[in-house]
Amino acid sequence: MPAYIYSILHLSGLVLVFLSLGGAVVRSMSKSDEPAIRKLVGLSHGIGMLLVFIAGFGLIAKTGVGFQAWVFIKIGIWVLLAVLFAMINRKPDLAKTLWYIVLLVAVIAIFLVYRKPFAHYDVAPDVAPTKQAQASE
Ligand code: HEM
Repeated sequence: MPAYIYSILHLSGLVLVFLSLGGAVVRSMSKSDEPAIRKLVGLSHGIGMLLVFIAGFGLIAKTGVGFQAWVFIKIGIWVLLAVLFAMINRKPDLAKTLWYIVLLVAVIAIFLVYRKPFAHYDVAPDVAPTKQAQASE
């Protein structure tokens, strides 16, 4: 499967994840217990997180970026997005604050992708040097 398909799946998963996080904040702030909303938000989050994960690892393989530090940080951010979803649902009083934390986390992840800080620091040195690492040498 060409890399652009993984990118499309990765970004579509992200749209689902952030739709669900926004929906969860609104549901918590409005103290709504409507089962249809809970189901829509929950399903969107689950499917979105799965797509981001699978396509993200597909992109690691397809783009040859390897397991660089920024990739590991992004995997940490992926876990954090799951924790934030649980917190929004369990602590409705924090929902509004978590809205801004979700935005901050998203901006950090996008910065990581387009700037790739620590790109020459390869977390798995036994993997063949990445194109960036070769270019920066
Ligand atoms: C399991 C977690 C994740 C993994 C393994 C992963 C991995 C990757 C990889 C390898 C790329 C391609 C980079 C390149 O083309 O040089 C990528 C692109 C991208 N990732 Fe992730 N990512 C993950 C989670 C996230 C999260 C949580 C966000 C945002 C909040 C995110 C946003 C993006 C964006 C915006 C792109 C650029 C897409 C493009 O231009 O093709 N990723 N990701």
